[in-house]
Amino acid sequence: MSETLKIEFVALAALPSQTAAGASQGESGGKDGSARTLIIFMGKDFAFGAATLHLIGEPGETLIKKAAAAVKFKGKAWTALDLVAPAGLAAERLVVVGTGTDGGDENREGKIKTEVPPEPEDYARLGGFVIGKLGHGVNASIAFDPPRPPKEPVRAAADFASGIWLRDYRFDRYKTKKKDDADTKGSAHIIIAVDKPAAVRHEAKAEEAVTAGVLTARSLINEPANILYPEEFANRALALKNHGVEVTVLDEAAMSDLGMGALLGVGLGSARASRAVIMRWRGGKSAKDGAKDSGKSKSQPIAFVGKGVCFDTGGISIKPAAGMEDMKGDMAGAACVVGLMQALAERKAKVDVVGAIGLVENMPGPQAQRPGDIVKSMSGQTIEIINTDAEGRLVLADLLWYVQDKFKPKFMVDLATLTGAILVALGQDHAGLFTNNDELGERLIAAGKATGEKLWRLPLGATYDKMIDSKFADMKNTGGRHAGSITAAQFLQRFVNGTPWAHLDIAGTGMGSPASEINQSWGSGFGVRLLNRLVADYYEG
Ligand code: BES
Ligand code: MN
Ligand code: ZN
Repeated sequence: MSETLKIEFVALAALPSQTAAGASQGESGGKDGSARTLIIFMGKDFAFGAATLHLIGEPGETLIKKAAAAVKFKGKAWTALDLVAPAGLAAERLVVVGTGTDGGDENREGKIKTEVPPEPEDYARLGGFVIGKLGHGVNASIAFDPPRPPKEPVRAAADFASGIWLRDYRFDRYKTKKKDDADTKGSAHIIIAVDKPAAVRHEAKAEEAVTAGVLTARSLINEPANILYPEEFANRALALKNHGVEVTVLDEAAMSDLGMGALLGVGLGSARASRAVIMRWRGGKSAKDGAKDSGKSKSQPIAFVGKGVCFDTGGISIKPAAGMEDMKGDMAGAACVVGLMQALAERKAKVDVVGAIGLVENMPGPQAQRPGDIVKSMSGQTIEIINTDAEGRLVLADLLWYVQDKFKPKFMVDLATLTGAILVALGQDHAGLFTNNDELGERLIAAGKATGEKLWRLPLGATYDKMIDSKFADMKNTGGRHAGSITAAQFLQRFVNGTPWAHLDIAGTGMGSPASEINQSWGSGFGVRLLNRLVADYYEG
């Protein structure tokens, strides 16, 4: 993880008392632990956890009540009371973080409101919120003892830690002045005091692997396209070998032999060569035992496929200038697949997974494909290019076909910054979900709710499918102005050959999303936490 942020878990009882008497008892860690920033949680009506009360004592409670009255702090969630040099306490600074919610659970008279515990995703957000209040590079001890205990306290504490890591990330590789920036100097040491430190440490280790995967994805997305072109992206994916992932790179000759005319057509206008990268993590039981077993029970992997357009000018159907710089992020789907493979490998997930990414640059060079051109895909189906800016589906068409043909996976999930239309439909709070399999769809939606990477299902159907029939070829690559995200998904569905499949259109969520409690960077890494949860909850073991 980040070299500048170290998180350590200790027992709640190990935090030295904040009151003078307690502090002078010289409990272990007192020197370092007491005279620093302390973070505690408070619900409405000055509700504290028992361990917190013990920690701050009566002087602490009195002080907080006085300060809270002065600034009308009510302990509402997503607010905090920041006390510097709190009188009578050992800490240099005390931050009281509100966790109170209305719950929206009023009775008929509208009088009784119950405090509901935060949703699962909220503990990551809470961690992000806390580190946001604290500031970069500040040492602190956090008494993770919310007044209303989480349903799954160990998971919650690990999520909380992941929120801290995710919030702390910044992409400043190209800022030459960062060294003098006091704000980024120094390394932070965060102590999180929890009920069951050993269990939390174990859970947080897996969570740290997932977070590292998210940060890998974010950095790939944030990289400019002059640095991260297809070959360089493939090289970064090759680094996954260090995590025990098998990585194969297909160059243009290999893809040409496979008949990937749809993918290769997109890269024709670019000076940069196209690549496809196939990754494999064999953590599943049967994958390892298969050889000494009967051999017939070879495991069926699950598969993730990502759109990796390193830059999308639109090609000959060129995009307008305004905002075109954002198209360096048109590889967010591929970045997510790489980050996910890293996460699964690093936490040694017990599952057999294929990751496949198609890496191209969509440029209007002299060899570029034209509107009206007809290309032949690996599936044998022909495609009339109506708009060269509808290039992502061409890349995915060949990859989806290749993956189902070669690996016969249980299912495929693709991620792509595929259409501007998904932004019109859903904005930036949900990614679009399309699927030919209700069970897979429901599982994805559940994983989305659990991680806060939310999905909203949109329809598929024969009437939409007809919209991409072509006069001259088997299909065309755009379906007109209406239902743009759906016709794009229909196009992809023509290449899954009946395999259970889901398509996530992440054009609105993968990049440029508004800063949040857990992401301050342009690239969000959307999909890594979501798909890791899908795997963990339904496909492991
Ligand atoms: N990469 C774009 C989609 C996109 C738009 C991603 C905005 C992120 C933000 C995609 O390749 C594209 O250009 N799609 C076209 C399709 C159209 C030509 C049918 C679009 O959405 O306009
Ligand atoms: Mn495009
Ligand atoms: Zn694109």
